[in-house]
Amino acid sequence: MTDSLETIAKRLQSSKFTGHSYMPIYDDLFSHLRNEPIQILELGVGDGNSMHLWLQGFANAIIHGIDASKFETFTHPRMLTYACDVSTPRLGLMFPKNQFDIIFDDASHKTTDQRVAWMSLWPTLKPGGYYCIEDIYMTPENGGVDEAVRWWIDKPGFRVFANFKTGFGDFRNDDVLIILRKP
Ligand SMILES: C[S@@+](CC[C@H](N)C(=O)[O-])C[C@H]1O[C@@H](n2cnc3c(N)ncnc32)[C@H](O)[C@@H]1O
Repeated sequence: MTDSLETIAKRLQSSKFTGHSYMPIYDDLFSHLRNEPIQILELGVGDGNSMHLWLQGFANAIIHGIDASKFETFTHPRMLTYACDVSTPRLGLMFPKNQFDIIFDDASHKTTDQRVAWMSLWPTLKPGGYYCIEDIYMTPENGGVDEAVRWWIDKPGFRVFANFKTGFGDFRNDDVLIILRKP
């Protein structure tokens, strides 16, 4: 596995590359996991673009995806999808405890949904695992930057990546990524 995650995202024209600047961060954090038999969960499947990104980027990973609307399904033995709304507080009961190594929340991007999904899915993340909340909105409707980010600050392993330039070279107010690491 030689291509960086960013190279694969660029090739697939993933919105994580074209609309946001998350890939160098993921390359940095996840390089040690690229060939491991890990389990990844993506909230928000859509046309399956990010499912293919992780499939190609993690050679031995099982890629799980959840979506509430019409979404792509796959026959690949390392890809699984589930029809479910991530704002369902009992979402986490769908999976065993300590199942996932990485969870990406790329679903509705609503502040309330992000928090409910995290509370529900946190037990399903392995110790040492990463929980990535993409597109933290910093608009006044969501309470502004203070409110959007502050809620996460006291959560385990909190890191925020914000105000970095997108691939287009301009700033987007949703180009903010929060990553928690489970102790
Ligand atoms: C921006 S797309 C991202 C798709 C994929 N992660 C990618 O990068 O290619 C967001 C997806 O989240 C789904 N979604 C939105 N709200 C949701 C919810 N409450 N529960 C589950 N899925 C939701 C949408 O149907 C859509 O397919």
